[in-house]
Amino acid sequence: MVILSIDTSCDETACAITEGRKVLSNVIYSQVLIHKKWGGVVPSLAKRAHEERIDFVVEETLRKSKLGSHAFQLIDYIAVTQGPGLAMALEVGMRKAKELSLKYNKKIIPVNHLEGHIYSSFVQNGKGNPLRDFSFPYLALIISGSHTDIVLMKGHITYEILGEKIDDAAGEALDKAARMLGFGYPGGAVIERLAQEVKNIDEYHFPRPMLHSKNLQFSFSGLKTSLFYFLKIMPEKEKISKIKEIASSFQEAVFETIIKKTEDAIKQTCIKNIIVGGGVIANTYLRNKFRKLVKKHDGSILFPPYPYLTGDNAAMIGVAAYYKAEKGIFVEDNETLDRLPRFPLVNST
Ligand code: KG4
Ligand code: ZN
Repeated sequence: MVILSIDTSCDETACAITEGRKVLSNVIYSQVLIHKKWGGVVPSLAKRAHEERIDFVVEETLRKSKLGSHAFQLIDYIAVTQGPGLAMALEVGMRKAKELSLKYNKKIIPVNHLEGHIYSSFVQNGKGNPLRDFSFPYLALIISGSHTDIVLMKGHITYEILGEKIDDAAGEALDKAARMLGFGYPGGAVIERLAQEVKNIDEYHFPRPMLHSKNLQFSFSGLKTSLFYFLKIMPEKEKISKIKEIASSFQEAVFETIIKKTEDAIKQTCIKNIIVGGGVIANTYLRNKFRKLVKKHDGSILFPPYPYLTGDNAAMIGVAAYYKAEKGIFVEDNETLDRLPRFPLVNST
């Protein structure tokens, strides 16, 4: 089954062609340089950039797929991210999907962006690697700039949210901390780099949010505030000389919280197979923390196998769409289809 998928949920204009779990072609046009100077994503600029690039990105994806000039004869479905994301940005992908659907008479498979991040660990390259297979049930973690969720997955396209962020997401907290330390957007990778050079990784031991609560909810807003007041009273000289230690201690507080909550989820559900998706899992140090955790519990862990699959991309949307199509989930009437900026992760039937 060949699927052309589109994701314009945030600041990446992305298109992919997948066959089952295999990626035939994948194009991601990042807007990061446009938003950088504003310190975060500006919706109206994102919309304009998506509009300017979407045709090129789709055409480039078709060209790279090598499906030839009659590619749409070989494509079975169009998949598109319906939400969650920025309304104005989602709109652009949705409109393009509808246009292609009408022109080539293909049904649309709407995909939740979070489903995509969950399936990103199972995306294969054009040769079908890595081979890894499914072994349900899973505890699936989505750790990105806008989400921090623990999801129980008993089978394909079935989700039960066990815990989610109640204010800032983990990536958002790292981005805000980086900004407070004088670095640009996005900040997670900068914090990782600073922290790598530190000996005493938890010198300032910031508070671990919600660590003692029994539930699996995440809250990083208090941690962000504590960094703010910490920096406010710290002499400028010390701030400069200790910037790496501050970054590392902050990262440690975020990651320890994630690991502890995951451990709580393992204990509560007795499920030890973990999959993790989302931009923050690009972080090597966090991956190692997860590896240690599952080793302790004799479990297993999967991460997105290629770097581009941690951030936003359409290949993961295409793979999630494949399992939806297998269950007969697609749209019969495009008129009823609309973007859902606050689309919760729910079972679709
Ligand atoms: O999944 P993603 O690309 O976009 C959303 O759907 O939100 O995630 C972006 C987030 C940003 O907060 C960014 O700072 C974070 O992922 N990130 C990292 C790293 N690379 C990106 N966080 C920690 N370490 C990294 N190496
Ligand atoms: Zn994302």
